[in-house]
Amino acid sequence: MSKMEVKTSLLDNMIGVGDMVLLEPLSEDSFIGNLKNRFDHNEIYTYIGSVVISMNPYKPLPIYTAEKVEEYRNRNFYELSPHIYALADEAYRSLRDQDKDQCILITGESGSGKTEASKFVMSYVAAVCGKGQEVNKVKEQLLQSNPVLEAFGNAKTVRNDNSSRFGKYMDIEFDFKGDPLGGVISNYLLEKSRVVKQPRGERNFHIFYQLLSGASEDTLKKLKLDRDFSKYNYLSLDSATVNGLDDAASFRTVRNAMQIVGFMEDEVQSVLELVAAVLKLGNIEFKPESRVNGFDESRVKDKNDLKEMCELLGLEQSVLERAFSFRTVEAKMEKVSTTLNVAQAYYARDALAKNLYSRLFSWLVNRINESIKAQTKVRKKVMGVLDIYGFEIFEDNSFEQFIINYCNEKLQQIFIELTLREEQEEYVREGIEWTNIEYFNNAIICDLIENNQNGILAMLDEECLRPGTVTDETFLDKLNTVCAEHQHFESRQSKNSKFLTDHSLPHNCFRIQHYAGKVLYRVEGFVDKNNDLLYRDLSQAMYKANHSLIKLLFPEGNPSKVNLKRPPTAGFQFKASVGTLMKNLLTKNPNYIRCIKPNDKKAAHIFTDSLVCHQVRYLGLMENVRVRRAGYAFRQAYEPCLERYKMLCKQTWPHWRGQARDGVEVLLTDLQVPVEEFAYGRSKIFIRNPRTLFFLEEKRRQCLEDLATLIQKIFRGWKSRRQFLLLKKSQVVVAAWYRRYAQQKKYQKIRCSALVVQSFIRGWKARKILRELKYKKRCEEAVTTISAYWHGTQARRELRCLKNEARSKQAVSVIWAYWQGNKARRELKRLKEEARRKHAIAVIWAYWLGLKVRREYRKFFRANAGKKIYDFTIQRIMQKYFLGLKKTTLSMSPIDKSWPAKPYGFLEGTHQELRRIFHLWRCKKYRSKFTKEMKATYEEKLAASELFKDKKALYPSSVGQPFKGDYVELSKNPKYQKLNSLVEDKVLLADVVSKINRANGKGAPRMFLLTKNNFVLADQKTGQVKTSVPLPDLSSVSVSTQNDGFFALRVKEGATSAAKGDFLLSSDRLIEIITKLHRIGSASADRNQIKIDISDEFLVQFKQDKVCVKFIQGAPKNGNGVICKRKNNRLLEVSVPSP
Ligand SMILES: Nc1ncnc2c1ncn2[C@@H]1O[C@H](COP(=O)(O)OP(=O)(O)OP(=O)(O)O)[C@@H](O)[C@H]1O
Ligand SMILES: [Mg+2]
Repeated sequence: MSKMEVKTSLLDNMIGVGDMVLLEPLSEDSFIGNLKNRFDHNEIYTYIGSVVISMNPYKPLPIYTAEKVEEYRNRNFYELSPHIYALADEAYRSLRDQDKDQCILITGESGSGKTEASKFVMSYVAAVCGKGQEVNKVKEQLLQSNPVLEAFGNAKTVRNDNSSRFGKYMDIEFDFKGDPLGGVISNYLLEKSRVVKQPRGERNFHIFYQLLSGASEDTLKKLKLDRDFSKYNYLSLDSATVNGLDDAASFRTVRNAMQIVGFMEDEVQSVLELVAAVLKLGNIEFKPESRVNGFDESRVKDKNDLKEMCELLGLEQSVLERAFSFRTVEAKMEKVSTTLNVAQAYYARDALAKNLYSRLFSWLVNRINESIKAQTKVRKKVMGVLDIYGFEIFEDNSFEQFIINYCNEKLQQIFIELTLREEQEEYVREGIEWTNIEYFNNAIICDLIENNQNGILAMLDEECLRPGTVTDETFLDKLNTVCAEHQHFESRQSKNSKFLTDHSLPHNCFRIQHYAGKVLYRVEGFVDKNNDLLYRDLSQAMYKANHSLIKLLFPEGNPSKVNLKRPPTAGFQFKASVGTLMKNLLTKNPNYIRCIKPNDKKAAHIFTDSLVCHQVRYLGLMENVRVRRAGYAFRQAYEPCLERYKMLCKQTWPHWRGQARDGVEVLLTDLQVPVEEFAYGRSKIFIRNPRTLFFLEEKRRQCLEDLATLIQKIFRGWKSRRQFLLLKKSQVVVAAWYRRYAQQKKYQKIRCSALVVQSFIRGWKARKILRELKYKKRCEEAVTTISAYWHGTQARRELRCLKNEARSKQAVSVIWAYWQGNKARRELKRLKEEARRKHAIAVIWAYWLGLKVRREYRKFFRANAGKKIYDFTIQRIMQKYFLGLKKTTLSMSPIDKSWPAKPYGFLEGTHQELRRIFHLWRCKKYRSKFTKEMKATYEEKLAASELFKDKKALYPSSVGQPFKGDYVELSKNPKYQKLNSLVEDKVLLADVVSKINRANGKGAPRMFLLTKNNFVLADQKTGQVKTSVPLPDLSSVSVSTQNDGFFALRVKEGATSAAKGDFLLSSDRLIEIITKLHRIGSASADRNQIKIDISDEFLVQFKQDKVCVKFIQGAPKNGNGVICKRKNNRLLEVSVPSP
């Protein structure tokens, strides 16, 4: 380890010597010379170890800036040039870091700069401690309490333009972090006599002047005040304005401060009303009025001020007036009322004014405390700042000065106790080699004043409580008897008793030799001021005021709480509160600021040696330096010392197992601290030079930085690892969740697609099934139709046979069987229809489900997906449709009606068009394959269709039958050989027909031959020609619309063959016969086409008679077929079974 190095920094190039401990040679002259030297260079602060000496510069110095605050912040005490900020910083840091409550004791005589110093300390602490909205508010309230208390408690004196006329001790409370929480202010005895009377060259409390100068006209009017100081008896006029003091501006500052501290507007108003009331009270004057008993009784002279004051306080004028004229003395249930003379009235008035003001002041302190008190109940660290009125010697010193100086005496006692006596005793106790340093101990003076048996305060109290006539003189007499022997007490009488005549000592005075000098006190007023009595009539009058604050200030005026016990005397109260204060200070770590006044003229740049020398002497500063020099700057018990610095040495870090003292020894040896720098006490280590301590602290700071880096490193590693593990864990969770989510999505997508595919397939399947069903249905229909026709034909044929076989019974049963079969088929059809319907329902239901599913999953498609899918689907369907058509083998038969079922409704048009085109094409194809014969046959069929389609019910049955023409095979049948040869032309048609007998309507079979030129009727059996009619003789053919084979061949009138009349024939091949007949007409150019009449009633010429043939609908088909009956001469009725 490197040998101890001491940073010299600023300490070595400063003006004079910054720390008096380092002054060489040390003498009173060099001490004062050093102070003067530094003072001349505006260096107003000098150290004696950790004590700060502060010289009042009486001029503003640029050393309290924010930069300075930053400069001193967190710096070692001895590191920079001496400054009050260094002390404040040290105190604040030991409070915050070492948890030691602190107190800042600021002493010095009046005008030496105590109040200013206390404000600098507070503002420094406020600047360096924590920040934040709440904390800043607390700080602001603590700082702003100063202007308020100064306005009400400070006044201009001959010694100081802003002299504190009360003692103030303020505890600032901090939390564990060092953030301010709040504060508590204690005030000590306000010099209230100043309210009614001020010594020459002095002023009343600032607030009176501030109010009159600074308040607006409106406020003054409300307070019934005039801006003229001279109008108020209580305001001294010779020094009403003070150089450098702007009362008006101060008033604004005070009002603003009150607002910040938390005073309500009505509270401020009440306070100002009370201030105004005090001024008014001072103006009330009295005149004597003689009474019958010879005594004078006081009367208020001019009642205007009284009236205004009463109005201000809401008092009844008569009540107060009476209280100024009478005094009621209560003793043991007895009330005696005595009149007051003028002097007594004045006394009462002034007592009231003093009480009013001093109680208002105490109320203000309490009110501020209420605002600034800490809001939490957590343990607080406390920094106390004591700024008490300074030691003072006036021309005329009274009870107040006695009290003030007693207080200063006590503070000096604390200083002596802690810095001189205690320290020296400690060296002896610890076994450190020590030569005692003499100093003056003022305990003897304190004893003179406060001794409970024969102290001056005890004497005064005794005198005040004593029955009988008590005056200030009797008090002095008492002092003369009790204290005469005391070496610090002098009075004319005590001197005289020693045969020493001292004319500087008047008769009504006593002198005390204080630590700071001799002070002559006039006993006048001592008893009264100590008694501090206010006539009960006055306090009761005040209590009656209609003003909440006044009521609050005079609680003893409440008639229901009459207390006959005497209140404790002022001296007693003061002594008790000073005692408490001292006890409180002793529990805290003291920090001293010793203020020195450079001159008596309140002037900058003047350094009066004698004055400074006097202060240096009585403050015991020389002794202080000597003790410091001979002693050690720093001491600490071994344990905490080792604990604090153990990290500086490997052997002691992190644990020292042996004795703490040995540890410290090892530590200091290891650090190579020179042996003369320290001494080992019994329980403490003593370090001589602050620089050594600074060295240790600096080392510790560096070491702590390294340790902090190490801790940070480990912590960061731990934190990062934790973070990493957390991230890893989170990543696993996130990934798991994501995978689940992705799989869910994928599944949903697949499910959707499956549903779409399913729906398409189902749709497609359903359509296919529908198509098949439709096709099946059509086939079945066709089959049914064909079979119906077939069965019909069969039945008819059978019927005919049966008829021919005389309608045998069997025929009936056969027909019955057919009928039954037909019924059964119909039933079957119905059942099939029903089954189909059920199937259709199932298909529709499947469609509906499909639609529902599509609707449900439609939302999973993108907005434009529908259109895309639609387009794609349409395209696909079209493609499929066309490919399907291509693959389908279609029948090339023109009569084949089959055509693939329409696959989709929307393709209906296309489908039908394609069908039409295909049909035309296949017809063309079909036609192109025709031979001539086939063409002729089809032409005939076409002609038949043109003639009979939809005109005759028989026509449909002819469609399926080929027109063979020759049904009897004329050329092959030998029976008809002859007949064949007879016919010249080619026989176009040969068949057996029924020739209807005109007589009974019965038919007889005949051979019917048709050639190009004529038709022949011949005997069926023999083939003998019965009739041959040339076709041109035929005028027309008549047929019915019904399903019968009747036709009438009408012969033109006058033709050769017309002799027998018309021919009424019947043939199953009616359609073929007539078509051929008609075609022959149309084929030959020379002949007219034969006319065909289709009607259910026509006339037939039988020889001469015209017979009407009428067709009627008979019973259904299963009956006996077509029946022709002769109804009368002119009517043949043909009954045709209905289909
Ligand atoms: N550090 C300073 N810088 C500038 N002026 C100062 C300083 N200290 C004191 N003064 C001046 O000295 C005057 C008196 O100081 P201060 O009121 O603090 O005295 P005090 O010790 O409180 O006196 P008292 O005991 O009468 O209250 C101040 O009004 C101010 O003008
Ligand atoms: Mg002061």
